[in-house]
Amino acid sequence: MKIIEVQNYDQMSQQAAKIIIETVQDRPQTVLGLATGGTPLGTYTYLVRDHQLNGTSYKQVHTVNLDEYVGKAPSDEQSYSYYMNKHLFEPANIPKTQTYLPNGLAANLEEEAERYTHTLQSLGGVDLQLLGIGKNGHIGFNEPGTSFDSETHVVQLTPSTRQANAKYFSSESEVPTQAITLGIATIMKAKRILLIVSGIEKAEILYQCLYGQIDEQIPASILQKHPHVTIIADQEALSVVN
Ligand code: F6R
Repeated sequence: MKIIEVQNYDQMSQQAAKIIIETVQDRPQTVLGLATGGTPLGTYTYLVRDHQLNGTSYKQVHTVNLDEYVGKAPSDEQSYSYYMNKHLFEPANIPKTQTYLPNGLAANLEEEAERYTHTLQSLGGVDLQLLGIGKNGHIGFNEPGTSFDSETHVVQLTPSTRQANAKYFSSESEVPTQAITLGIATIMKAKRILLIVSGIEKAEILYQCLYGQIDEQIPASILQKHPHVTIIADQEALSVVN
């Protein structure tokens, strides 16, 4: 694992965007695996700025998101689909037909999870997967205890994850209780992984992920086994490591 230490959130975002931009310039038909949440927002801002200033083109890129809430329509401001359209797909002019998220409104969620796995396979897999990490070590919505062999599946969100995400809703009770997420085995199939981590509240879990036992109770610890992981973390996030 390659660890890039930066001073703060802004530098983390800039560095992550640089890696993504170079990847897309190198291979215009790249398949990008994307995340939502607070951590990648700055990265997306830098991607959009570069697109506007330097014209990096996303016309041939395909994107596959990690997850979506169950019960949220793309038109719903709290859906991950809405978030991606607003922060990246529209301002970076990524053709809508080349962007994929699980359908949280599917009548049969298990079938939808399977369909999403097939979508990913038909694209030839993810070239570069951007990841954030939850305070409990989750990646995607793979909560502690999820099998390392899991493929795309429906999950019950833990109280700690619903609490952490409550800031995006008017109350915790409005946070959906279920989501569809790429599984851990699915995430591990990405050719390259870019994990971005910022803030003191991620310091303890980042340390455990990097140097603790590889254990299903800490989903992100599996990243130790991936051959091409780059971690960009700021000083606060690395404060337990250092
Ligand atoms: C989001 C996702 C989650 C987040 C994690 C960290 O698509 O898959 O695993 O990356 O919950 O969220 P933030 O960045 O808000 O701390």
